[in-house]
Amino acid sequence: MGGLARRVGYSNELSKLTSGQVPILQVDAGHFFSDVVGEKGMATDTRIKNSWMLRAFAALGLTAANVGFRDIPYLSMVMESAGFEERLKQYPALGALVSANVEPADASKRGFKPYVVREVTGGRLGSKPIRVGFLGLTEVPATAKNVKGRWILDGFAIAEPVAVAAKLVPELRARCDLLVVLAYVDRNTAQRLGTTVPGIDAIVAARQYNLYNGVDEAGDAVVVYASNQTKHLGELRLYRDEKEPAGAISNYIHRDVPLDAAIPDDPATLKLVYDARAEFTRAQRDARLVGDTPEEAKAFEEQRRLLAVQSPFAGAERCASCHVQEYAIWKDSRHAHAFKTLEVRQRELDATCTPCHTVGQGERGGFRDARLTPQLVNVQCESCHTPGKQHGDKPAAGFGAVPTPATCVKCHNKSNDPDFEFASYWEKIKHGNGLAPAAAHSGH
Ligand code: HEC
Ligand code: HEC
Ligand code: HEC
Ligand code: HEC
Repeated sequence: MGGLARRVGYSNELSKLTSGQVPILQVDAGHFFSDVVGEKGMATDTRIKNSWMLRAFAALGLTAANVGFRDIPYLSMVMESAGFEERLKQYPALGALVSANVEPADASKRGFKPYVVREVTGGRLGSKPIRVGFLGLTEVPATAKNVKGRWILDGFAIAEPVAVAAKLVPELRARCDLLVVLAYVDRNTAQRLGTTVPGIDAIVAARQYNLYNGVDEAGDAVVVYASNQTKHLGELRLYRDEKEPAGAISNYIHRDVPLDAAIPDDPATLKLVYDARAEFTRAQRDARLVGDTPEEAKAFEEQRRLLAVQSPFAGAERCASCHVQEYAIWKDSRHAHAFKTLEVRQRELDATCTPCHTVGQGERGGFRDARLTPQLVNVQCESCHTPGKQHGDKPAAGFGAVPTPATCVKCHNKSNDPDFEFASYWEKIKHGNGLAPAAAHSGH
């Protein structure tokens, strides 16, 4: 599911289908950059990934991209005043960033436009162009520090979003026919915006809450929630009433378009995605290279050995020594090749992919990376049965009951596997005494 090339592919197809009669504007409501910052600052591969997001935005021709507070750690680097003009030439998308409530705390950073107005035309709109205004807002994060009454994060001050909207919406209203707020806020704040600030037509909110194929209302505003990770593309279709004055919207349809295999990849964008992946995978490999000296290699071996010894996970090969039949069934299943799937796509170092294609990532003693924890690649017995080293050392009945379908849908969730259905899936991997969950515990 998903991907930038399909997002572009979809909008190209839509544009073709409507023969240019319907203007399409693409926007982003916030949180497009990774904000993962380690002890030594933002890792090189993360910075490279983020810089490719900026290139992708230029390729998409985004009208506006709203600054979410999670974008600030990276933006605090690229919005440095020193060298900014050069960077803007390299990454023109920096000019498409909007935020009405994030501003530089001092002169060392550049600021954002509070809003943009775009004039659109098209056969179905009649003779008069429509001016669409986009205002950007973000929630104030808990990580911001209060410095003399201002909320500061990485060199930017973030003001309370609803208060800022109350001040700026009347000004923008006078300049546009349709006013859209791009808001990296949760559902409560989106509601407060719509109900307390008059003059907003639509709010595109992008935080924590997905409203599949539906709309919320808040005051006179319609609220839609964007889903994350580019697996679905939020589409808001606006319909005008011919009898209403120019710009008045009579109907809204919102849906999350699943970017599945039915959507064609745009070839040029696909090339960009491959180039990006090659560059950051190279950086990831470099960052994980074991040192050349024998001492460094030895230290690495020792770290790997300790991780294995201290882990409560045993790995499927250990289980195989007693559960021969179960092992044989598993070995033939796609679970046993889940890591290869990432490797052939050069995604094996991508921490957004590995949690569901390995064992126990994020848990104590779980998967770290393929070099440090080679025994924990692929979806294995312990991805479902919980850590089993202790059980292997001292086997007993009663170990590792698997609640279904709850265990499965942690990975086979709506966005990664919309077709998941327990009974037919279990049929493909069934093993154990009863060969069926209902009978599984009756054999002892
Ligand atoms: C830790 C994550 C994870 C868990 C838990 C998990 N799966 Fe999977 N499953 C995967 C991944 C990843 C794949 C795809 C592997 C590949 O092809 O690379 C997959 C593939 C499958 C397939 C093959 C699909 C096909 O069309 O042939 C079946 C069947 C399946 N899983 C059933 C289940 C069932 C039933 C459960 C629960 C008892 C479950 N899975 C739990 C991650 C998981
Ligand atoms: C939340 C869990 C989860 C995450 C995160 C996840 N996957 Fe998967 N992935 C799955 C499951 C479950 C399947 C099996 C789906 C099915 O059989 O239809 C799967 C299947 C796949 C397949 C299809 C295998 C095939 O041969 O058909 C590919 C490719 C894949 N994943 C790549 C990725 C990449 C790349 C990422 C990171 C961007 C990723 N996955 C992140 C759970 C996940
Ligand atoms: C995708 C999830 C998943 C994976 C991977 C998996 N199992 Fe299971 N296993 C189950 C489920 C579900 C059952 C049904 C019984 C239950 O509720 O525990 C089961 C049942 C069993 C049983 C019988 C339990 C009983 O009470 O009858 C054994 C033994 C077993 N698995 C061992 C293994 C071994 C060994 C592996 C790896 C080689 C493995 N399983 C991989 C989900 C999984
Ligand atoms: C040294 C042999 C041995 C090893 C290694 C071993 N098991 Fe077992 N396992 C057993 C025995 C014996 C039982 C109890 C069977 C019984 O009483 O029916 C058992 C039971 C189970 C059960 C079913 C519990 C139940 O209530 O029936 C599951 C699930 C299971 N093992 C999974 C695993 C997994 C996963 C691993 C690897 C992490 C593993 N086992 C490693 C010997 C082993």
